[in-house]
Amino acid sequence: MFLQRTTWPEVEAYLEHSTGIVMPIGSTEQHGPTGLIGTDAICPETIAGGLAEAGILVGPTLSIGMAQHHLGFPGSITLRPSTLLAVVRDVVNSLAVHGFTHFYFLNGHGGNIATVNAAFAEIWADASFAQTPSGLKMKMGNWFAGKRVQALARELYGDAEGSHATASEIALTWYAHPEAERRDKLDPLRAPYGPIRDAADYRKHFPDGRIGSEPHLATPEHGERFYEAGLADALEDYRNFLAS
Ligand code: NI
Repeated sequence: MFLQRTTWPEVEAYLEHSTGIVMPIGSTEQHGPTGLIGTDAICPETIAGGLAEAGILVGPTLSIGMAQHHLGFPGSITLRPSTLLAVVRDVVNSLAVHGFTHFYFLNGHGGNIATVNAAFAEIWADASFAQTPSGLKMKMGNWFAGKRVQALARELYGDAEGSHATASEIALTWYAHPEAERRDKLDPLRAPYGPIRDAADYRKHFPDGRIGSEPHLATPEHGERFYEAGLADALEDYRNFLAS
């Protein structure tokens, strides 16, 4: 069940049997010449659709994240880390007012990890300074780092997976949105590797936006397998989180 498509009495009834919620979180940033700008939001949102079908409440996707290094490419949007931190904190605190206690952020973007974990620490710090137990538990799960997803990416792409605009994430977007498949020629086939700094430096070192990846290896059929693997990983991790 999706929060955006429920009513408040339905949320109240849900809270009678579960105080857990899944929040998909992603980014709006370039994903190379053939990848959608919404890739990092579409991937966790697609997997969260399976969680919603399993009866888990899924909140609205937080689709703008920490992507300052992509601003050299048209269409990318970023929050600064302090803004994203404030957004996550306000979202958790809002739902905590209603009795939610377990917040599972299903993440699609590596650049969000440090900031979202810092937001969790801020929320717990508020409780610690006030000497008032919050009873709140937050966890971040990265769909791309699940054991089934990682095994599948290794099997299908090996070293060609890379780290940005990867074949696995692009395959998943093509499964979710078949009309998005693009076959423009990529040059070089394998994108370069290197550290991430600011936007100008990024564009200079990664001229077409990719890092280390060969997204032309992706297919919508692979995407369906990533969906199934990602859903199994997320279901298992969420259930363990609730039981912890
Ligand atoms: Ni991505």
